[in-house]
Amino acid sequence: MSQIEAQKRVLSGMRPTGRLHLGHYHGVLKNWIKLQHEYECFFFVADWHALTTHYEDPEVIEDNVWQMVIDWLAAGVNPGSAPLFIQSRVPEHAELHLLLSMITPLAWVERVPSFKDQMTRINDRDLATYGFLGYPVLQSSDILIYQAGNVPVGQDQVPHVEMTRELARRFNHIYGRDSGFEVLAEAAIKKMGRRNAKMYHEMRRDYLEQGNQASLERAQAMIQEQQNISLGDRDRLFGYLEGGGKVILPEPRALLTEAPVMPGLDGQKMSKSYNNIIRLREEPDDVNKKIRTMTTDPARVRRNDTGNPDVCPVFKLHEIYSDEDIKDWVREGCTSAGIGCVDCKKPLIDAVLEEQQPMRERAEQYEGNPDLVKGIVAEGCDKARQVAKGTLEEVRSAMGLSYR
Ligand code: TRP
Ligand code: SF4
Repeated sequence: MSQIEAQKRVLSGMRPTGRLHLGHYHGVLKNWIKLQHEYECFFFVADWHALTTHYEDPEVIEDNVWQMVIDWLAAGVNPGSAPLFIQSRVPEHAELHLLLSMITPLAWVERVPSFKDQMTRINDRDLATYGFLGYPVLQSSDILIYQAGNVPVGQDQVPHVEMTRELARRFNHIYGRDSGFEVLAEAAIKKMGRRNAKMYHEMRRDYLEQGNQASLERAQAMIQEQQNISLGDRDRLFGYLEGGGKVILPEPRALLTEAPVMPGLDGQKMSKSYNNIIRLREEPDDVNKKIRTMTTDPARVRRNDTGNPDVCPVFKLHEIYSDEDIKDWVREGCTSAGIGCVDCKKPLIDAVLEEQQPMRERAEQYEGNPDLVKGIVAEGCDKARQVAKGTLEEVRSAMGLSYR
């Protein structure tokens, strides 16, 4: 797997810590659904990651896992284009975690912001554990075992992807130079034929000595086109081009999700811990009730008081769901007391229900048929494992573990 092929692959995961809500839909799932058409995607349930913090309540995992997968399917994630799987069913992640831990400097895990933050912020459980310290190394293994070049995540996860890049680089630096790397690379160059070999050398020099990015890309394209070279040689050609050794674990990048923050029922960010969510598969009656009882501009007590949309949580939801015409109607009607809050909420309720309608329909077939969901996940696990096994073999061999 070269850096270039890795760029076509996406991996992302979620911890099964509860039912998904509209914040997850707008912030993450809509993006997954777009990406699944553009990349080779792998999506997984990070159940081991859930255990790093919730190790004392294992009973919550099972139900959350299946409900979360149903939420994904309901939202439109398509298991035909993206395998959906469960981390703990692909034990290769754990072996890579162990192997990567050998080369992970303690200082790297200790300085990860989420580690320090959560240790001090979370008081209702003890996070001073070996497992929690290893959280980012496990996450690096999740990513690197699929040699995924792209990781769609929110801002809070960027330091983890950053550490993954550093670990990959360190790994390649330590293990990417198999003995006689240069000799093997030169031999691989010859296999492309005289003309190509000459071009390769010229472009490599142009990149390494002049920093010419265009030459690097042209040379990469040339390697890509070669039909009759082995995978090992291909990797060597890519690695040698950039001056170093073989790239065993490509460095991923974070694909930042650019969704606006989803407001909850109280105007704060939608989050389970604020108790202000609308679930992805909320019953229509409950959607209705939740929005109907939302607090509005506190200054607007009676129907004929005027209000200010800028301080109203309801208007924040209009910003997500309504077009300009409706928003103008709200601004005008609110500030002149022309409309009441009940009128104002009506189009919002309709918009949320309409958005959820296809999700409810899709979910129905899965809710009544757990075997169908389990079958989809079993298939996803098989596909994921195939890929994971391949990477692990390369890693074992690079680390001197493939002797017989
Ligand atoms: N740590 C991520 C979160 O809390 C979940 C996760 C685990 C993940 N492994 C991953 C995300 C690999 C992306 C890639 O949201
Ligand atoms: Fe809020 Fe709409 Fe009522 Fe104005 S009319 S206070 S924007 S709910």
